[in-house]
Amino acid sequence: MIKKISPCSTLRGEITPPGDKSISHRAILLNSIAQGRARLSNLCPGADCGSTLTCLKALGVSIKQASSAPPTIEIDGVGKKGLREAEDVLNAGNSATTMRLLTGLLAAQPFLSIITGDNSLRSRPMGRLISPLHLMGAKIWGRGEDSLAPLAIKGGELHGITYPLPVPSAQLKSAILIAALFAEGETIIQEPSKSRDHTERLLQTMGVPLKVNGVTISLTPPITPLNPVDLHIPGDISSAAYWLVIGAIHPDAKIRVKDTGVNSTRMGVIEVLLKMGAKIKIENQRWARGEPLADLSIESSELAGIEISGELIPQLIDEIPVIAVAACVARGVTIIKEAAELRVKETDRISNLVKELSKLGATMKEMPDGMVIYGGAKLHGAKCSSHSDHRLAMALGVAGLIAEGETLVEDAEAVGFSYPAFWQDVERIKAN
Ligand code: S3P
Repeated sequence: MIKKISPCSTLRGEITPPGDKSISHRAILLNSIAQGRARLSNLCPGADCGSTLTCLKALGVSIKQASSAPPTIEIDGVGKKGLREAEDVLNAGNSATTMRLLTGLLAAQPFLSIITGDNSLRSRPMGRLISPLHLMGAKIWGRGEDSLAPLAIKGGELHGITYPLPVPSAQLKSAILIAALFAEGETIIQEPSKSRDHTERLLQTMGVPLKVNGVTISLTPPITPLNPVDLHIPGDISSAAYWLVIGAIHPDAKIRVKDTGVNSTRMGVIEVLLKMGAKIKIENQRWARGEPLADLSIESSELAGIEISGELIPQLIDEIPVIAVAACVARGVTIIKEAAELRVKETDRISNLVKELSKLGATMKEMPDGMVIYGGAKLHGAKCSSHSDHRLAMALGVAGLIAEGETLVEDAEAVGFSYPAFWQDVERIKAN
């Protein structure tokens, strides 16, 4: 699908972003192995979480839709020993979170599983996941000398490990923690810097003895079953980020983004936008079972370029595409570095961002581990492509809202992986 976007003179109104994708995956997966029923409301409606649901159903978990607005499901957890061998290959679609977290789980199940994904997912690194699971005693094979999916997993007995993560990856950390639930002895993970901690929070809420000390996490497998947890999932700050950026860079905008998760390990986008000069207010902060949420308001601001690097990168990795749009029109230069992980996301986001935003008039330079963005660009409409990457599609949509003339975004349906109503929300915010 090609989406046509044209600018408009004012942007006003309220947006409620979809439920957090990372929390939704974890809430589905962990409640599937808890003992008893859990109700999850405001689940992320994107296709990625749909992949996690489909895989767990294929493994014998009963999951029923309780309502569609907001998306609500009931999961009858089968306990730690209740999963059964799937009859067919499991398909994680475009979702690396599904594939990596599920691999951690399947490594400990006494049956064979094969898991695959779409073209993008089959090209993403899995060696970093397979190595620690091998050290725990897992039997996993993958293409390219155990580096790529499809993966074949012959689950069995695992033992705890002490493991320094080579990259700050929440997916990798979570896969090891999930495997550790079934292992003999303690597992200790050290992160190079803090990545999103939703798995740790949810496991603690479910009664698992997990300790966090700075960047060190230790988990002793629980002797009692995991307690099911009813959750109303907070809005996804990664989806809220599009509204924060358009609110800041549009000349006449006032937008309120409601019920958004403000977990401290996900706040990088707000920290960066505030540093750039964005007028963001965080209001009405409250809690949902171990996760903080708040309402965010944003209005037209004068932004200035900054350097983004180091420990901040894992805290805003998914928001870099839309932060890059803000940097294109900010005053001065923005440097994004130590962000080579961007090259192994749904697409190579360094190369594709530079290529596509340049078509709209941005001045940017590709670097091996990031990009340099020369601000002050006057963006103009053009035909550009999302490369079927949801975050690129939405970032280009935001650019189109301030570009002069008409912008055409190819493969715009990619928004469906995390935020199916994104284009409808664009129209709504323009109409107010
Ligand atoms: C995610 C972790 C991040 C992020 C992804 C979601 C998660 O990936 O980019 O969109 O839910 O754990 P990495 O763990 O590979 O950094």
